[in-house]
Amino acid sequence: MTTCSVISLPGAEACAGLVAKKLEAARCGLESRRFPDGEIYLRVADGVDGHEVVVVAQLREPDPQVPGLIFLADALRELGAAHVGLVAPYLPYMRQDTRFRDGEAVTSRSFARLISAAFDWLVTVDPHLHRYQALDEVYRIPAAVVPSAPAVAAWVHQRVAKPVIVGPDEESLQWVAEVADLAGCPHTVMRKLRHGDRDIEQALPDLQALQGRTPVLVDDIISTAHTMAGAVRGLRAAGLAPAVCVGVHAVFAADAAALLAEAGAAQVVSCNTLPHASNAIDVTGAMAEAVRAQQQAARYR
Ligand code: R5P
Repeated sequence: MTTCSVISLPGAEACAGLVAKKLEAARCGLESRRFPDGEIYLRVADGVDGHEVVVVAQLREPDPQVPGLIFLADALRELGAAHVGLVAPYLPYMRQDTRFRDGEAVTSRSFARLISAAFDWLVTVDPHLHRYQALDEVYRIPAAVVPSAPAVAAWVHQRVAKPVIVGPDEESLQWVAEVADLAGCPHTVMRKLRHGDRDIEQALPDLQALQGRTPVLVDDIISTAHTMAGAVRGLRAAGLAPAVCVGVHAVFAADAAALLAEAGAAQVVSCNTLPHASNAIDVTGAMAEAVRAQQQAARYR
């Protein structure tokens, strides 16, 4: 039987530990440090010859992390790994999925090319699929998408009385509808117009029928939190109770947490795809199942 080893990029140790436990896989150590000029030093600390290796990377700030990720995949192959797969619970660079203005780099395509050249397969959780319908439009390797909706719906069902699931923009309908269906409650979405990174406008749907329910805002990413904060304020102004905010990926750039608190969110929770104080919904079980399926498929390719 092939040995499965899980290795973590710095910062993803806790997530890698949960995935390894669910896979009943060995952990593989990684020594990592920066040279004085900032270049990365990596050393795989355990043998991987003939192993199915799973690299876990939580890419909240991808730019400083990506060279190390690619170098690690190369090293693992040189050291004899049978296959090298990537678990990136948060898949960065998905939002630049078109050339919005002349001359822009479509970084989702370039990032996908880099990852596809370095790894045999990819497992991620709810990537930002907006103008792309599926990851195989840009990724050349098998890429499994783990839905967060079952875990989010279970959390809502257990923790929130009389919920209504609200999406802060039209793009969120894909998650919102599924969570509401699984949690057995109504849903609705707002309309959002983005003028800049921190400058958005939102229009509320008719909320009359939802008065008396607890609004649960669900979005894939909380980054600057302007989207969520605007939605919290809008719902309060419309007479609804303070909203519970659920973000799948807790990017939380700069003062995002403070902004949400100021807006009057009742509670802010996230899935554990990126480490953050708001992590309350565990999706590593579903991730481990997806890894098993990818490894099995890779053996027969
Ligand atoms: C956007 O299209 C995404 O679905 C999120 O709504 C967005 O990334 C949230 O960004 P921010 O927290 O910066 O408003």
